[in-house]
Amino acid sequence: MLRYMGLKLKLHPQVYEPVEDSFLLAENLKVRKGDFALDMGTGTGIIALLMARKAEFVVGADINPIAVELARENARLNGIENVEFLVSDLFENIDGKFDLITFNAPYLPGEPEEPIDMALLGGQSGREVLNRFLEEVGDYLKPRGRLQIVQSSITGVHETLKKLENMGFKAEVTAKKHMFFEDIVLIQAQAR
Ligand SMILES: C[S@@+](CC[C@H](N)C(=O)[O-])C[C@H]1O[C@@H](n2cnc3c(N)ncnc32)[C@H](O)[C@@H]1O
Repeated sequence: MLRYMGLKLKLHPQVYEPVEDSFLLAENLKVRKGDFALDMGTGTGIIALLMARKAEFVVGADINPIAVELARENARLNGIENVEFLVSDLFENIDGKFDLITFNAPYLPGEPEEPIDMALLGGQSGREVLNRFLEEVGDYLKPRGRLQIVQSSITGVHETLKKLENMGFKAEVTAKKHMFFEDIVLIQAQAR
């Protein structure tokens, strides 16, 4: 069991255990009262459950069904009801538009073999999942909607910023944490 910012979170060997990248996002969440928020790649549900304290309603999505079950259990454990978790490959099963979308994305190069690998491996170049996310996210944000992405310096922060600018977003790095061989970077963007 992990305790963080007043949340109790059950863990599972096949679900990403929140660490520094999760905490960087958690400490800098730009959720506002009344927001409809989406947490992509929710894992234990940590980010979705923190956002639910202020947001009107939060949807947490993950491609890993074990993560979705665990996140539902963590919502029950903390008595949080304004949240829904569902299995989805990115936006496959997502409807509607959101004020805020968060994604602590998998970023290491490699093809996943078991569920837990999907937390870290983002395809052959490491950017496949993030690039697919960036291509689709614009359709799920309200006008002036906000986006918060965590990624590693290993997989091209500049490339993400450039893609977002090209999509019409104002994008910037708003926080950073140095880890052993990389910087973990929080990118914030807003539709213009
Ligand atoms: C680095 S973990 C982050 C987990 C959690 N948000 C946190 O901060 O602790 C990335 C998550 O993205 C999920 N994921 C990977 N590919 C995905 C996809 N195509 N669609 C939805 N979720 C995906 C993984 O299963 C994993 O739970």
